[in-house]
Amino acid sequence: MPKTDNETRSIATTFIIVGFETLREVELFLFSLFSSMYVFTITAHSMVVTLVSVNRHLHKPMYILLANFSMLQALYTTVTVPKMLNALLTQYKEISSSSCFAQFYFLFSFGASENCFLAVMAYDRYVAICRPLHYPTLMTGETSLKLALGAWVGGLLAALPSAVWISTLRFCFPNFIDHFFCDYAPLVKVSCEDTSEGEFAFMIMSWSVIFGCFFLIMISYTFIVIAVLKIQSTEGQKKAFITCASHLVVVSIFYGTIIFMYIRPTTHIRFTIDKVVSVIYCVVTPLINPIIYCLRNQEMKVAVLKTLQMLRKYQT
Ligand SMILES: *[C@@H]1O[C@H](CO)[C@@H](O)[C@H](O)[C@H]1NC(C)=O
Repeated sequence: MPKTDNETRSIATTFIIVGFETLREVELFLFSLFSSMYVFTITAHSMVVTLVSVNRHLHKPMYILLANFSMLQALYTTVTVPKMLNALLTQYKEISSSSCFAQFYFLFSFGASENCFLAVMAYDRYVAICRPLHYPTLMTGETSLKLALGAWVGGLLAALPSAVWISTLRFCFPNFIDHFFCDYAPLVKVSCEDTSEGEFAFMIMSWSVIFGCFFLIMISYTFIVIAVLKIQSTEGQKKAFITCASHLVVVSIFYGTIIFMYIRPTTHIRFTIDKVVSVIYCVVTPLINPIIYCLRNQEMKVAVLKTLQMLRKYQT
């Protein structure tokens, strides 16, 4: 699409969310599938947050950070999925530019915060496994509060410049967002200005957040692996590794999808594959993360059982 002759093209103040562009039957099927997945996701994350807050033996940095991460994921899906469900059901796909920019901002700030939290959680595992004797003095309640606060604020700040830039762009007709939410690449495509400088700045920003956190996680895990290999007994090795296995699975899925989406040039891409990958990280990943955490972690399992017993006692 040529981005020239600005004068003749009229300015768009709303956008049309294209969505999945399939048969009505498929749309309805996707609606029921995604809405039940969404309900399950929100329930599971609320459960994790509740479990951690009501069980005293889960009042440890690892679980408090996990509860924060869970809340973040619930917020992350809530930014995109309800809007997507609405588009699937009603076929009314117009979105005002301000809610589009807000969606963009919250999506990227929560995404950046998730990156930070995964790095903080990796650091927590590093201290627990590599410096177990210093763990109580290094990871105090105050330290984990500072780390959590840093991760939240860091994410909210990191997305701000790009969101401000996007909101000052001029957008033209046809105002189709070829996606099911206001993602970066489809938004830039609707703009009728030269976006190369802003795209470069966005790239620098997202690369530093993603690779910065990824690098910290890799360093933590390098030390963890070295420490685990030094442990003499296989039983001890297994025990040490199990405490970070769930985190490692979550990290792999998270970076697998995110690196595919945001670490590459934005021009000339097929948005169809993007939609599928977006469904994975907006709908599927937030759904399986709490399952991974609860099933792979003995303490979480115990907490689930205890809480269920408590509820049963209340009922009788
Ligand atoms: C997030 O972390 C902070 C600081 O450690 C903690 O006080 C708060 O309860 C956590 N939030 C949730 C939802 O667990």
